[in-house]
Amino acid sequence: MTKHIAILTSGGDAPGMNACIRAIVIAADRQGYQVSGYLRGYNGLLDDQRIKLTCERMHNLLQQGGTILHSARCKPFATHEGQQRAANNLTSAGIDTLFIIGGDGSFRGAHALGKLWSGQIIGLPGTIDNDVAGTDATIGYYTAIETAVSSIDKVRDTADAFDRVFLVEVMGRHAGFLALNAALASASDYVILPELFEDEEKTLAQISKQIKQRQQKRGPVSYVIVLAENVWPGGINDLCERLAKRSEMDAKPVILGHVQRGGTPVSQDRILAVKLGTYAVSLVGTAVSGVMVGTNEHRSVTVPLPQTWEKTKALDEDSLTTMTTLMNHRYK
Ligand code: F6P
Repeated sequence: MTKHIAILTSGGDAPGMNACIRAIVIAADRQGYQVSGYLRGYNGLLDDQRIKLTCERMHNLLQQGGTILHSARCKPFATHEGQQRAANNLTSAGIDTLFIIGGDGSFRGAHALGKLWSGQIIGLPGTIDNDVAGTDATIGYYTAIETAVSSIDKVRDTADAFDRVFLVEVMGRHAGFLALNAALASASDYVILPELFEDEEKTLAQISKQIKQRQQKRGPVSYVIVLAENVWPGGINDLCERLAKRSEMDAKPVILGHVQRGGTPVSQDRILAVKLGTYAVSLVGTAVSGVMVGTNEHRSVTVPLPQTWEKTKALDEDSLTTMTTLMNHRYK
């Protein structure tokens, strides 16, 4: 009998999700599988809101940001009743394999569903945060870095013109991947990361000391700080005000926000998306289930779903060392 596979995108949308959907649909079509897409993440699964996904529908999709399946965070699916309803709906719809493109929250849901539904479950990492263990990178992460970097470059121009301090807040929820790499690639002067942040006073003292040293050497200077969201206890405006007072400089806040989630995916995200989508389809009908597909040193791998969230993914040591060296400040 023809296999019926279904896809949903869940949690924060990420550039490259469409490229991944396209790869899954085309690879599935080559095998003669039927493909459905659930709308708005797990909500579509609970309400049995499904659309047919055909190769024709995939035309011109690879480069589009967002997700044609829409995405959402779904509270009712976090309950046992919700998960049971989803399992029943999957069985009634005759789905053999469910693909979930999302982050660790979505994978926790998928894991719970796996206890109630006997079909095959495969996760694909899609989030700008890159905070999913078991894969080198997540779909959307590289594009978000690019978006942040191009914005910080612009901030730098006006910061230089006015010799001002600028604080640029980037997303990442509780992980500093985006902040660290955006700071590195934009030659920012300082970066505040959730993984390394210790103390408000210490951070303020380090930054103002550095600004003073530079002023003594060069006269008026600009200074750009990348701040990961949710790190500074009083928020970006509090940090801005305290820094302005301490450094006796004009300091301005910029929150990049959801702009980082949009836009056409960069090549690295497209390549990751199509690789993982195709690999996931190659697993359909095998005994492999309850896993995420990811890459490990560029090779496609499968990882049991709990391993994607049980261990916190560590920041790259080389990137940290590079930043410490080039930005001339220590974290410890
Ligand atoms: O997980 C992706 C992400 O963009 C995080 O970086 C951010 O903290 C969060 O989603 C924002 O979520 P929402 O769009 O639901 O406010």
